[in-house]
Amino acid sequence: MNKKNRILAIDQGTTSTRSIVFDRDINAVSVARTEFAQHYPNPGWVEHDPEEIWSNVLSTAREAIEMAGGPGTIAGIGITNQRETIVVWDRETGKPIHRAIVWQDRRTTPVCARMHEQGHEPLVRERTGLLLDPYFSATKIAWILDNVEGARAQAEQGKLACGTIDSFLLWRLTGGRVHATDTTNASRTLLFNIHTCAWDDDLLALFNVPRAILPEVRTNSEIFGDTEADLFGEPLKVAGMAGDQNAAMVGQVCFRPGTAKATYGTGCFALLNTGTTPVQSENRMLTTIAYRIGAETTYALEGSIFVAGAAIRWLRDGLNLITHASQTDDMATRVPHSHGVYMVPGFVGLGAPHWDPDARGLICGLTLDATAAHIARAALESVAYQTLDLMDAMHEDGGEELSALRVDGGMSVNDWFCQFLADMLRTPVERPKQVETTALGAAFLAGLATGVWDSIAEVEGTWSRGQLFRPTMDKAQRDRMVAGWHVAVRRTLSATV
Ligand code: G3P
Repeated sequence: MNKKNRILAIDQGTTSTRSIVFDRDINAVSVARTEFAQHYPNPGWVEHDPEEIWSNVLSTAREAIEMAGGPGTIAGIGITNQRETIVVWDRETGKPIHRAIVWQDRRTTPVCARMHEQGHEPLVRERTGLLLDPYFSATKIAWILDNVEGARAQAEQGKLACGTIDSFLLWRLTGGRVHATDTTNASRTLLFNIHTCAWDDDLLALFNVPRAILPEVRTNSEIFGDTEADLFGEPLKVAGMAGDQNAAMVGQVCFRPGTAKATYGTGCFALLNTGTTPVQSENRMLTTIAYRIGAETTYALEGSIFVAGAAIRWLRDGLNLITHASQTDDMATRVPHSHGVYMVPGFVGLGAPHWDPDARGLICGLTLDATAAHIARAALESVAYQTLDLMDAMHEDGGEELSALRVDGGMSVNDWFCQFLADMLRTPVERPKQVETTALGAAFLAGLATGVWDSIAEVEGTWSRGQLFRPTMDKAQRDRMVAGWHVAVRRTLSATV
């Protein structure tokens, strides 16, 4: 029997890096995790140190491999990552020329507003499925080239390389031999034509990004290259890569049109599989590449909420209301309702369906008897309300009524939250047994390319439900609560929307 039948998944997220080894039965054989620093150099700016990310990836991967019995058991590596976050590095030295600009960063809001006024959005929307918003990578890349001395000239001479985190990690893991990304990460840059699956010259010109710095774009499941032998004791094959939300879709085995998942990490991202046809939203949802395996591209409609788990982290780090995220479960159930308190977590503007980069957070409905528990509950509730807004918009775009929404990620382990979500959506919520679906999706992609799993059908068969939450709340009560939420959101929106 082949000893190499396990996959190492590297899940490089917005606030933490995780390395997990999975076996064929999707058991997490070993897990290593570490948080890393967030840098906020100016209001609305968010940066990461790529060297810190790299060292965390190495240490967690080594630890997970070691705990799983060494590199001899590993058939391949799958990488999944926070999307849109961009790194520019020197091809000669491999050193980043600036900290990574994170997807949450709003510094290019004026650039996007100007391009919007100039009427560029229809072209961008048609080619990329995205909107002109600072969330995406292109304006961040141009910002680095224009603000680091000499960078633009060096980029044009081919001396610099650029990529999302997957691409940077692949470059480092392969000792600078492979500069590539995958279709899902490429589809979030504003530079990639999702219909032809290639970088688009008109968009490169529009955003002023030289083609010479961009990576080659590959499918999600193929051999990208071998790691340097000295990193893990022997060369290992990087055999799968995908943006984290797309990997979660694969991990939740949402392979059929009409299936959907919502992942609750730093933000929340709901993706609905629309099959091999890209569907244009009338409600400011994104059209994006779900995954590309072999020659077939599968598309999704996506709703992106920028703050989900980040609101809970803010209760901990910003307000010191809690010392651990899990306390919110307790606090939320300690009070019978939120007492008319609403939180709209527009800390970095609002994403779908509002796309208002100038919106800022709000807590409203406070009275003298409001307590920390009400605020904690309002924070959790806000994530469910935002999911509802996304699902409503997707439904209006012609999506069929969902039979169930599959959930995963940190907040999905909170039973109270899942029940409240089902009540607000008036749709059953399904939580899988294996909730590490992002890492699992990356493992599936790498495992399909290395023969650990033979087919998508086999992968599909591994999914099993952990718990089902059915809506139980009285409709009139639910409608009153939702109406209050919409009043709070209207107060949060900036004058520009
Ligand atoms: O698009 C941003 C997304 O990929 C970030 O994911 O899991 O870090 O919230 P996460």
